[in-house]
Amino acid sequence: MGAEDIGALIYDLFMWPLERGWGRKWRARLWEGISGRVLEIGVGTGANIPYYPTDAEVVAVDVGTGMLARAGRKAAGFQRRVELVRADVRSLPFTDGTFDYVVGSFLFCSVKDPIPALREVGRVLVAGGEVRLLEHVRPRDGKLAKLLDLLAPHFAKRTWELFPEAGLDIVREEELDSRGLVRLYWLRKSSERKREWKASRTAR
Ligand SMILES: C[S@@+](CC[C@H](N)C(=O)[O-])C[C@H]1O[C@@H](n2cnc3c(N)ncnc32)[C@H](O)[C@@H]1O
Repeated sequence: MGAEDIGALIYDLFMWPLERGWGRKWRARLWEGISGRVLEIGVGTGANIPYYPTDAEVVAVDVGTGMLARAGRKAAGFQRRVELVRADVRSLPFTDGTFDYVVGSFLFCSVKDPIPALREVGRVLVAGGEVRLLEHVRPRDGKLAKLLDLLAPHFAKRTWELFPEAGLDIVREEELDSRGLVRLYWLRKSSERKREWKASRTAR
């Protein structure tokens, strides 16, 4: 077992209590209503694989070979068809407008250069497509936010501030816990939202 495989095993052990508890509900919500051509970014060890809708055609990427190996075993165990590709989300090996949905969970706390990564996400999305992200972010609860700033700053990022800069608009946001630490985002390309807005103005 190499260092990458050990890292992936440790990740699963660390996440196990969460996955047995709230994780199930959060991940089921993340994948609700998704179908067609789907790209999962930062698939990790495949924690989302059991929640893939059966009619979705999923391609999943990650930079970690140990993570991808575990994800492959999970896909086989759950009998889910997924194409696993080693790729960096900042430079995706897909042509423009390939996917109906791009989905990710707990990724943008760890991606270096998140803005170029989010721009890549927008590039591979079809016109009218949707980005769905489950993220832990800076909580609404001020005391908790300050505590995280001291102890675990990567848990308290203002990830939502990145979206407009990368050309993505928040269509909907849902807090999945009482302190606003874990949130689900529905995003679309800003250019499309502007076009829709202009069309609704001229129709008046
Ligand atoms: C915190 S883990 C989350 C894994 C999984 N999405 C989950 O919900 O359990 C972050 C994952 O993102 C991957 N990752 C980080 N930066 C990446 C990048 N630039 N491109 C692709 N994957 C990346 C890491 O290898 C890791 O597997």
